[in-house]
Amino acid sequence: MLKLAENLSRLGTETAFEVLARAAALEAQGQSIINLGIGQPDFKTPDHIVEAAIQALRDGHHGYTPANGILPLREAVAADLHRRHGVEVNPDHVVVQPGGKPTMFFAILMFGEPGAEIMYPDPGFPIYKSVIDYSGAKAVPIVLREENGFAFSAEEVLSQITAKTRLIILNSPANPTGGTVAKAEWDRLVDGLAAHPDVAILSDEIYSRMLYEGREHVSLLQYGDLRDRIIMLDGWSKTYAMTGWRLGYAVWPEALAERATRLAVNCHSCVNAPTQFAGIAALEGPQDAVHDMVSAFDERRRVIVSELNQIAGFRCVDPGGAFYAFPNIEGTGLDARTLQDKLLTEAGVATVAGTSFGDYGEGYIRFSYANSVENIRDAIARIKQCLQ
Ligand SMILES: Cc1ncc(COP(=O)(O)O)c(C=O)c1O
Repeated sequence: MLKLAENLSRLGTETAFEVLARAAALEAQGQSIINLGIGQPDFKTPDHIVEAAIQALRDGHHGYTPANGILPLREAVAADLHRRHGVEVNPDHVVVQPGGKPTMFFAILMFGEPGAEIMYPDPGFPIYKSVIDYSGAKAVPIVLREENGFAFSAEEVLSQITAKTRLIILNSPANPTGGTVAKAEWDRLVDGLAAHPDVAILSDEIYSRMLYEGREHVSLLQYGDLRDRIIMLDGWSKTYAMTGWRLGYAVWPEALAERATRLAVNCHSCVNAPTQFAGIAALEGPQDAVHDMVSAFDERRRVIVSELNQIAGFRCVDPGGAFYAFPNIEGTGLDARTLQDKLLTEAGVATVAGTSFGDYGEGYIRFSYANSVENIRDAIARIKQCLQ
């Protein structure tokens, strides 16, 4: 009998990948599936980014790179953050990773151990809680409520901080809800955090370019007083339709950047070299493709929200960002997982049950609108028919 480490049994998963696999299996059996399950843009990586990676390989960039990423890429990140958020970032505090996920993994492992508490959004990206549990720390949910547009309440977050709290994870625009947090709420939170100088914040800003109806992104990097304890995660996966390239980064506090790099050395050595050159082309090249993609998402967002609200038993608040809608489905009389399975097998529509994103996701299912307007309308028609 193999004897595995006990903490391995506490590691969770991201159900969206399971749904993707089940949807692919049904498709292989000949069933027509409309995929509104997986959280990745349905657009192609812009050509000039692909070309930059090919050129990098031709130029001989196929060896190891520094573990924190090549300097021109980290400089391009700093320049991009200056342009977008008006902040000064030292490229030495930027650590490039294979996607956004490793930053979460490393940050949580840095702070998490038995006896510690880490707060995370619920419903939220499932990997936060999975890795907190794995680390042995106590996972303390920050409940996000529909009536609040799925934004956190600063007062509630602050009231849950204890002497054991080491890290607070926040995510706006959010997965799975599409919720965004207004500047006034961030201000309240940051004011309150002054009384808790030992608490670090992981701000997951991976959807920072995907905001609608004139909303502007608030980056926690803009709060100078917090800079010695903010880990700001962002990346290329969603913004540039590059999920499979595996490229992301975080800006770390000065004292932690070296430790994050050390974890990278122990784990993956570095991100593959051509992808890093592609990352430079993405940040420094034309941004038209990003704008086009965001306007397409905005159009789909308006279609899907209005359509979802016409399904008996569904109620959907307007998502302000990302590319997810998170309707309340209690009126159908079904629990989230039963509805997810029914929609997949009977209607051929892949979605993800709210419970995949935490205990407070019961009563909701997530729709990713990274699909064409035509397919979205077709999916809703199928759902209506299936629930009749
Ligand atoms: C909130 C959030 N953070 C991070 C990630 C991870 O992104 P990546 O694919 O770059 O690891 C995702 C992906 O779905 C996400 O939704």
